[in-house]
Amino acid sequence: MKTLIIYTSQTGFTKKYAEWLAERMSGDLLDVKDAQKKSDDYFADYDAICYGGWLMAGSIVKAKWFLGKAATWKDKKLAIFGVGGSPNGSPDVDVFLQKALTEEEKKYVKLFYCQGGFNYEKMNTPSKLAIKMFVSALKKKKDATEEEKLAFEKMSSSYDLSDVKLIEPIVEYLEEKRLEA
Ligand SMILES: Cc1cc2nc3c(=O)[nH]c(=O)nc-3n(C[C@H](O)[C@H](O)[C@H](O)COP(=O)(O)O)c2cc1C
Repeated sequence: MKTLIIYTSQTGFTKKYAEWLAERMSGDLLDVKDAQKKSDDYFADYDAICYGGWLMAGSIVKAKWFLGKAATWKDKKLAIFGVGGSPNGSPDVDVFLQKALTEEEKKYVKLFYCQGGFNYEKMNTPSKLAIKMFVSALKKKKDATEEEKLAFEKMSSSYDLSDVKLIEPIVEYLEEKRLEA
């Protein structure tokens, strides 16, 4: 039984989740840049393939590449996870979980969310600028709730919400079919 974890990460949170998953499942780990160079044959032997990407403006980065491939891998156990700065359970995470996959994709890919954080030290300049603009626009919001205000303050500096326990539902899902098979 073989598992492959593919990921893309700018500041390290998604990479950390991908590494935790690969280690926990004794699977192989591949940056999406390397995965994109592989021929279709490379993936044939894997029973389970999981893709993780960071969240940018509500979408998983490079999810399109994975979902394109996933449509041809329906005989495998498939999962995708997004890693964002929002804490698990926040309303925007619910929206993401509802919208990230089409009804058709939901039939063969399972979606997860893992809270990451913000790391301004590792963020590239365009990302830093985008976030600064986003935070200052939010701060000006007149009808912001206390909860939102706290969240905006939090986003002004780096923080880390990542938690190894959050990989467990993904592991459980990926292993399901492996037990059946
Ligand atoms: C331009 C930009 C847009 C972002 N959009 C979202 C978002 O829509 N939802 C969210 O939860 N986090 C968002 N984030 C935060 C990142 O997803 C978060 O920092 C994540 O942990 C980064 O993962 P990485 O370390 O693997 O790159 C955004 C970050 C940047 C730079």
